[in-house]
Amino acid sequence: MYSSLHSLILLLSCLHYVQGERILGAYIFQRHGDRTAKANPPTLLTVLGYNEVFITGSYFRRRYLSSSSSLQISGISEHIVNLSHITASAPADTVIRNSATGWLQGLYPPVGTAIETLRDGSIVNSPMNGYQLIPISSVSNAGGGNSENSAWLQSTSRCDRAMSSSSSYLQSSKYESLFNSTTDFYQSLSPVLSSTFNSSQMSYENAYTIWDYLNVAMIHNSSSNFPSAGLVTDDVKQKLRLLASIHEFDLAYNSSEQIRAVAGAILAGEVLSALNETVTSDSSSKLHVQFGAYGTFLSYFGLTELPFADSDFYGLPDYASSMVWELVTNSTDESFPATSEISVRFLFHNGTLDGSIDPVAFPLFGQSSTLLSWSDFVNYTKNFAILSQDQWCQECGNTTGICANTVTTPDGKSDSSASTSTSHRRNPLSLSVAGVIGAMVTLGLIASFGALSLLFNKLRLSSKQAGTSEPAQNFPALPRISEEFRKLDPIRLDWRHPRA
Ligand SMILES: *[C@@H]1O[C@H](CO)[C@@H](O)[C@H](O)[C@H]1NC(C)=O
Ligand SMILES: *[C@@H]1O[C@H](CO)[C@@H](O)[C@H](O)[C@H]1NC(C)=O
Ligand SMILES: *[C@@H]1O[C@H](CO)[C@@H](O)[C@H](O)[C@H]1NC(C)=O
Ligand SMILES: *[C@@H]1O[C@H](CO)[C@@H](O)[C@H](O)[C@H]1NC(C)=O
Ligand SMILES: *[C@@H]1O[C@H](CO)[C@@H](O)[C@H](O)[C@H]1NC(C)=O
Ligand SMILES: *[C@@H]1O[C@H](CO)[C@@H](O)[C@H](O)[C@H]1NC(C)=O
Ligand SMILES: *[C@@H]1O[C@H](CO)[C@@H](O)[C@H](O)[C@H]1NC(C)=O
Ligand SMILES: *[C@@H]1O[C@H](CO)[C@@H](O)[C@H](O)[C@H]1NC(C)=O
Ligand SMILES: *[C@@H]1O[C@H](CO)[C@@H](O)[C@H](O)[C@H]1NC(C)=O
Ligand SMILES: *[C@@H]1O[C@H](CO)[C@@H](O)[C@H](O)[C@H]1NC(C)=O
Repeated sequence: MYSSLHSLILLLSCLHYVQGERILGAYIFQRHGDRTAKANPPTLLTVLGYNEVFITGSYFRRRYLSSSSSLQISGISEHIVNLSHITASAPADTVIRNSATGWLQGLYPPVGTAIETLRDGSIVNSPMNGYQLIPISSVSNAGGGNSENSAWLQSTSRCDRAMSSSSSYLQSSKYESLFNSTTDFYQSLSPVLSSTFNSSQMSYENAYTIWDYLNVAMIHNSSSNFPSAGLVTDDVKQKLRLLASIHEFDLAYNSSEQIRAVAGAILAGEVLSALNETVTSDSSSKLHVQFGAYGTFLSYFGLTELPFADSDFYGLPDYASSMVWELVTNSTDESFPATSEISVRFLFHNGTLDGSIDPVAFPLFGQSSTLLSWSDFVNYTKNFAILSQDQWCQECGNTTGICANTVTTPDGKSDSSASTSTSHRRNPLSLSVAGVIGAMVTLGLIASFGALSLLFNKLRLSSKQAGTSEPAQNFPALPRISEEFRKLDPIRLDWRHPRA
């Protein structure tokens, strides 16, 4: 009785497997792990951060490589890496590169000592119990780099128009209002900041660096090297994170100046080419992973309208966060399916993937479904993806150096004198419409600064009432702030691009 039930269950699970979806390939964009503060360069990956990326890499091993996983990528080598199945890339940055190495150690752990007999009969053993070597290529295009030593988001983009677009945020009235209304708040943190920041640096201008500095201290510093730590209450921490998120999101993406999101546009191009290679090479290249920084996440979130799916996407992703694009099919064909049978599913996980939960699928491009046909995915992505150096030069308005030979086209996009005009290629906004929206957003924000202080008073009250402190965890989690975003930025949240 038991055994026939058992075989029935086995049979059912086989049927499920046959009828279920198959993963043909995947692209992963992975944030580095916990690190030291940007305010104290050189920035280094910590032991905690090494663990975070290693654990996350191990999760993806169980998800995509293990033969017992229903999501195993078709035909991928399970134990011993086959270098034609995988590509890995990272910018030349210590924190990000070391994160890549740690993550790959989790993906393909050591397989036991390999033995090689040489011509002269001598025997050599592989070091480190069969540690598997996986080359990490450099993210080579002009704008792909992101340096953890650098506080300024666009400093490594080297894209002329993106830099001036981001800089214009620092001149906007939206910025100025937040700057003015938060000066007292930042100054009040002087006892915990003064060893690293002077008084004029304690402002919204350094929202990210200050948040980062205190966040690192909250994780690592004992009370002896963090005097006055009591000042950084949960409310203060939350407010610092919220302000840093607004600051960085607005530097990374702006719906009327798409070039600001150059990092996300380049990533989109890389995802498209890599997945296209999987689709067109009958999947000999199967798993692609790129390592990077939060700025690229925020740019991509903005470009693909993820904040409309969940306002948490306005927030800074935690260390070791992952974005994943899966190529999926229902085809039961033994051979590689036709492109018409292939779809793309986007997933995200905020922070270390320790296996307690899986990444969650979110709809891209304001769609309702989390599954996009391959051709739709290509079409939507092509609207903003940067696919070549020539295109990069044109969109960035760069004309010297690597761009010296780029022929500029007369359609306005590449005319550097137009760099101050709005260019939203997908849905070009007329200047007057863009102006009205800009004014609405500004008014909405001015109206919500009062709400901000009310909100934090309220938080202070409610956390007093609750009176519970979070238990210490291996991987410190921070409170979610989507509600605060909703209150702080209602107009940005409700306004959608007019769709053609
Ligand atoms: C693009 O132009 C800007 C401004 O002239 C410059 O700082 C940057 O280095 C250029 N980028 C490249 C890749 O040459
Ligand atoms: C910010 O404060 C400065 C100096 O007090 C003032 O000149 C400016 O008008 C304020 N800006 C806004 C948007 O409140
Ligand atoms: C604060 O430090 C910055 C950078 O080192 C410097 O440019 C600025 O003059 C300093 N401001 C004051 C008030 O000391
Ligand atoms: C935390 O400790 C580091 C190293 O000891 C120190 O440089 C940093 O200033 C401390 N952070 C705070 C907020 O005190
Ligand atoms: C995909 O690759 C094929 C073959 O190299 C190429 O013809 C096609 O244009 C590529 N499609 C995209 C969307 O890049
Ligand atoms: C790696 O995979 C490719 C294609 O899937 C296959 O042709 C090749 O033999 C594999 N290499 C090794 C060393 O197994
Ligand atoms: C990730 O979590 C942080 C809090 O830990 C939050 O501020 C942010 O909005 C979250 N981002 C996403 C995309 O869920
Ligand atoms: C596969 O079929 C199931 C059931 O009809 C459906 O829910 C799922 O979206 C399909 N997946 C793909 C990749 O088409
Ligand atoms: C993608 O765009 C092309 C050109 O705009 C169009 O011909 C094609 O039908 C679109 N494909 C889909 C699936 O929407
Ligand atoms: C986008 O940038 C424009 C010009 O810098 C600015 O007026 C507008 O407020 C920005 N939009 C958002 C949502 O920040």
